[in-house]
Amino acid sequence: MDFTGKSIVSIRELDKDSFLKILVTSKEIKDGKYADCLRGKLLATLFFEPSTRTRLSFESAMRYMGGGVIGFAGTEYTSVKKGETLVDTIKTVSGYCDVIVIRHPVEGAARLASENAGVPVINAGDGANQHPTQTFLDLFTMNEIFSDLSTIRVGFLGDLKYGRAVHSLAYALSLYNTPLWFISPELLKMPEYLVEEIRENGSRIHEVENLEGLDEQLDILYVTRIQKERFGDMQEYEKVAGCFRITKSVVESLGENIKIMHPLPRVDEIDQEVDTLENAIYFKQAHNGIPVRQAVLGLVLGVLQ
Ligand code: CP
Repeated sequence: MDFTGKSIVSIRELDKDSFLKILVTSKEIKDGKYADCLRGKLLATLFFEPSTRTRLSFESAMRYMGGGVIGFAGTEYTSVKKGETLVDTIKTVSGYCDVIVIRHPVEGAARLASENAGVPVINAGDGANQHPTQTFLDLFTMNEIFSDLSTIRVGFLGDLKYGRAVHSLAYALSLYNTPLWFISPELLKMPEYLVEEIRENGSRIHEVENLEGLDEQLDILYVTRIQKERFGDMQEYEKVAGCFRITKSVVESLGENIKIMHPLPRVDEIDQEVDTLENAIYFKQAHNGIPVRQAVLGLVLGVLQ
């Protein structure tokens, strides 16, 4: 796939060749290639929702490659507060930059933005829907450790209902036919339409409510935060708050080679004591956001091929 000028909105629009292109380019960048190749280019980061990793790693990525950044984190001092629509904001900002990265609480907002922008739009998370660049850095991190994505056994634990990182990544892994375990209480189960899609793509799926019996069954446990901000009813949230916690002894019970991933931020679902274990790779995962997002920017801006 040629990424030049294209928006990246949903993982569904990509295939394994596109992932390979991103993984290979990210590795080249991590190894020191393509420094300064975005000199003269400008990125706009439009964050209508909080973020630490995605926004800052995109901004670092652009600056490390010699480009510039404009944008906002929160709408308080923007004309959104005066009632400006998303479409008008996007049409305006399109004229100020070469590429837009947008995070928005509403599912479909990134799609709407891409349809109204004169520059490529990269979805940095739209509600509970998609987070494609998180998936790229997750795949990159997995690929650094396991050379074959089709044979790894991946368990997703936590909020599978509202977790956009899980939705994007599970779909991407299904293109490799990766066997997947969806581990969550009933209230946080993976949406049925996604389970169907993933199964149809070729992944074997196991749906369970806890980690019982999963010792030595998984290569990766991908843990997620319960997305409190997505619950319409706080009583429903209280039913599942704190319902799982990964401690050192839980990690040990899963086998000495298990890798623990998490898109972050975490709240209390992984004990800090786990951070010291070799098994914990979530900060390495977060740091891989830089070369991966450098690759994404270089490819959509047509500077890298
Ligand atoms: N993983 C992720 O999207 O983190 P932020 O919300 O901090 O960007």
